[in-house]
Amino acid sequence: MSWDAQADLIVVGSGVAGLTAALDAAELGLRVVVVTKDAVDAGSTRWAQGGVAVVVGDIAGDTVDAHVADTLEAGGGLCDAAAVASILADGPGAVARLRARGARFDPGADGRLARTREGGHSAFRVVHAGGDATGAEVERALVTAATDRRLPLLTDHVAVDVLRDQSGAVAGLSVLDGSGRPGVLAAPAVLLATGGYGQLYASTTNPSTATGDGIALALRAGVAAADLEFVQFHPTVLYDGPATGRRPLVTEAVRGEGAVLLDRAGRRFMTDVHPLADLAPRDVVAAAITRTLAATGAECVYLDARALDGFAQRFPTVFAACRAAGIDPVREPIPVTPAAHYACGGVVTDLTGRTAVSGLYAAGEVARTGLHGANRLASNSLLEGLVLGSRAARAVATDLVGRDRQGPGPVGSPTLAVAPRGVVQRAMSAAAGIGRDAAGLAAASDIIEAAAVPRAVTDRAGVEDAALTVLAQAVLAVAGSRTESRGCHVRTDFPDRDDRWQRASSVVVLDAAGRPVVRTDALVGAA
Ligand code: SIN
Repeated sequence: MSWDAQADLIVVGSGVAGLTAALDAAELGLRVVVVTKDAVDAGSTRWAQGGVAVVVGDIAGDTVDAHVADTLEAGGGLCDAAAVASILADGPGAVARLRARGARFDPGADGRLARTREGGHSAFRVVHAGGDATGAEVERALVTAATDRRLPLLTDHVAVDVLRDQSGAVAGLSVLDGSGRPGVLAAPAVLLATGGYGQLYASTTNPSTATGDGIALALRAGVAAADLEFVQFHPTVLYDGPATGRRPLVTEAVRGEGAVLLDRAGRRFMTDVHPLADLAPRDVVAAAITRTLAATGAECVYLDARALDGFAQRFPTVFAACRAAGIDPVREPIPVTPAAHYACGGVVTDLTGRTAVSGLYAAGEVARTGLHGANRLASNSLLEGLVLGSRAARAVATDLVGRDRQGPGPVGSPTLAVAPRGVVQRAMSAAAGIGRDAAGLAAASDIIEAAAVPRAVTDRAGVEDAALTVLAQAVLAVAGSRTESRGCHVRTDFPDRDDRWQRASSVVVLDAAGRPVVRTDALVGAA
């Protein structure tokens, strides 16, 4: 298949960043096609619960500066301060545009938007929709807007590689359809908005689509990735026995509105850990739960929300998940455990979504802008997707003015190292979760190395498994090289922060054989 619809921009991914970019680009007069490997709403966006962290300006005492300070504090010294200030300042405008596109946020009793609070926030500043169904509402609004605008949408097509012209600039994208038939889309700009890589782990809040395809594609195109070791574990997913795959999230907003964590003896354990107790930044809470589980030998801790009024109305998604598991959160504490949740790092971009390759852009969870540092502040991700999606659309429009367009060069099926997904997930879960050490990381690396076999990648599963394989190798390499604990990266053999790593992001590139190498000579992110 060769599908040259005279597109200016191919957007890969149909979550918050991708659809925002596509809609903005169309409004700027660009011809856009959105490509997604599954159904339009099958990415991570629709699973986001808590909300969008934003200072609209109508809450006395809260300011964008306070939001910036909370983001920097949560980020463990690794945020890019300029990125934080710039992205958060654009938040109110981005949310206003989203509302103009039809997203309906929950109103409070006084007619203003309702606000909740999550870990690490010093104020109630998280706007939400459908109680705890914010991502679903954001996705609904954007998909409706894209449908109304008749944006071309190619579902069931997985992106394989960006194609280049003779000058090395992007000229298109190779894809595989659901039956593995190869195809080519021609365009001078490709925006990656493919989300994260929670599927590296056996237990995650992420859907099955979160396999890191965009990061792997960018690495193969010669773009660096950074901060990959900072895989954020959400402290509270519903625990209903040992299980793998996507686990039901219990939003931090439940704690924001008064629930507390208890160990199996019914004792609160966060009060001794951090001044914000149960509302400490997410990395702190997830690590404290992990230590509590190790100390008590229990499989889960408990989230006691019995004192909250109207739980079922305020948190309908969590309530339904609890009821499906036979738990009544109104009458009994909810069993919870941490699970892989968010990739704080990703493809290195500037603050407009541009990468180092002309014509290749990235926005949303796939990208590393410097906003999140070593640990993302809760509910900053939908905001980043909105802001960077818009900025990337404007960057593409600017860059295409006067650009010479050439067709893509020859296309072939890539031969990539592929390890079985189960092997990768078991090794990563055992060695690269909360609490890592040199021996475990090296052992996991050896296991994946031994299991990775080069083969022609001819279908979606192959693309995904190749992406997971290279990302596992990359995460293990950077996690092994960062000999300190910081944010989401917790080393049991190096339990303290080490100032030599302050403001130093780990950068990964691929060598000539396609293997990830850590570039310690090229640290980015100095704030
Ligand atoms: C949550 O609702 O707890 C998750 C929100 C987020 O990951 O930002």
